[in-house]
Amino acid sequence: MQKDLLKMDDLSKEEILDILNLADQLKYEQKHGIEHHHLKGKSLGMIFEKSSTRTRVSFEVGMYQLGGNALFLSNKDLQIGRGEPIQDTARVLSRFLDGIMIRTYSQEDIEVLAKNSSIPIINGLTDEEHPCQVLADLMTIREYKNILEGLNVAFIGDGNNMANSLMVGCLKVGMNFSIASPENYTANEKYLNRAKEIAEKENVKFTKTTSPLEAAKNADVIITDVWASMGQEKEQLARIKAFNGFQVNDNLMSVAKNDAIVLHCLPAHREEEITTKVLEEHSSEIFDESENRLHAQKAVLVKLMK
Ligand code: CP
Ligand code: NVA
Repeated sequence: MQKDLLKMDDLSKEEILDILNLADQLKYEQKHGIEHHHLKGKSLGMIFEKSSTRTRVSFEVGMYQLGGNALFLSNKDLQIGRGEPIQDTARVLSRFLDGIMIRTYSQEDIEVLAKNSSIPIINGLTDEEHPCQVLADLMTIREYKNILEGLNVAFIGDGNNMANSLMVGCLKVGMNFSIASPENYTANEKYLNRAKEIAEKENVKFTKTTSPLEAAKNADVIITDVWASMGQEKEQLARIKAFNGFQVNDNLMSVAKNDAIVLHCLPAHREEEITTKVLEEHSSEIFDESENRLHAQKAVLVKLMK
């Protein structure tokens, strides 16, 4: 494994599967009260420049369950917020901590942080990627479908951080992937090209379309995310217009397989990217997906920090 988890592509297929297997084991142990203090005495710093419910709580509780502790570091309180360079922050925090989870805007910032830190850096969401969420998604899909290889995944919506990490992660583990986004909101070329490359290598199908129904046809898994991500609040109204027709609703579900599952990283905007009806009908998968953030991230923490 590399020192850091900055993007989904930092993990090979084998490493992804290794993390999922460890996550399953840790989930079993936690449910059965079997102690697993793999990170006794270790500290994780959690830097947040954006809001969070799931990421913050799952990392903090995860570290506690692993016998270590976690520090919530808001950029409003850190000197970073007053202009201290990331390079210096990285070198200082490396002296105190055993790992850092960071949620921020720019992917480049976490790369600079990683380059200047001697401890593992974990991406807890940037504008470009959300690898921890995708590990939880893969774990959830495997729980419901028993396998990953050969399944058809459809992502309906914005070509954003979730779409980028999902394309890489799903294709790498041998799933077919289709993405439907409005013309001006597709994933960027870098990720689309990488997706094509991985699909070719893994001998799976990758489709990019502007038709949600085409993408969802015969899908085993339907995934969506908000139309306006954190940092895009001002674009909310324009995006609601542009994403008209890209809702996960009964009509879309009718072309997927009968036993298709639905995932959403949450928070969801009901009646925008997903109807309340579909969300509630698939709430068991969606909230298992949320819970699995805890287990999947504990596996990442153990792999990187033990
Ligand atoms: N899915 C997710 O990352 O949720 P939070 O923004 O609440 O952390
Ligand atoms: N795409 C969303 C994901 C939130 C977990 C955002 O970046 O706001």
